Amino acid sequence: MTSPSRGRFISVEGIDGAGKSTHLAWLNGFLQSKGIALVQTREPGGTELGEKLRALLLNDAMTLETEALLMFASRAQHLSAVIEPALARGEWVLCDRFSDATYAYQCGGRGLDTAKFAALEHWVQSRGDGLIEPDLTLIFDVPLEVSQARMADSRVLDRFEREQHDFHARVRAAYLERAVHNSARIRVVNANRSLADIQAELAEMFTDYE
Ligand code: TMP
Repeated sequence: MTSPSRGRFISVEGIDGAGKSTHLAWLNGFLQSKGIALVQTREPGGTELGEKLRALLLNDAMTLETEALLMFASRAQHLSAVIEPALARGEWVLCDRFSDATYAYQCGGRGLDTAKFAALEHWVQSRGDGLIEPDLTLIFDVPLEVSQARMADSRVLDRFEREQHDFHARVRAAYLERAVHNSARIRVVNANRSLADIQAELAEMFTDYE
């Protein structure tokens, strides 16, 4: 039996309140309607252990170093238990956040040294002579006023969502900067538009998969 070709690894990112969950749910349904077998998962989390780490990360006070290490601990488990097996089976992985979030939140938002980020990324994601990374990353981008207004309407806020305006502004700037330096992999989607316009742009990205 020939082994299936490797699936595609897609990550979805954005500042808190950017509408990522809505777009992710739509994209999941859209890809499945094309007959694509996919696994939707998330970080931090995605495994039994990762979900326990997520609960700590979203609720408990901790140092920046602890926060960065736990994000990558969750990622190490997630890669080996969920992401790599799914890709090897030929399935697509639709991942709600991945390492770009650590770059944006821990480096951009909190000021983690980017050399420490790069060391952790290398340690956890090195495979052979390269890094395992998403094939495509979508950053849903909205102005801060839009995301802040959405969060003001929302349920109980977690430790990241409770951060001040300046923190979220730094996270957004770091995402946009990362997109500039990784333009072959990352696409910034203007999410400050109608759902119909955003969905048309997403559909256009996958026209090859009819
Ligand atoms: P979510 O609200 O998109 O589910 O993500 C949970 C929070 O975790 C979100 O505020 C961003 C934050 N986060 C980081 O700070 N670093 C990371 O590496 C990841 C994956 C998420």
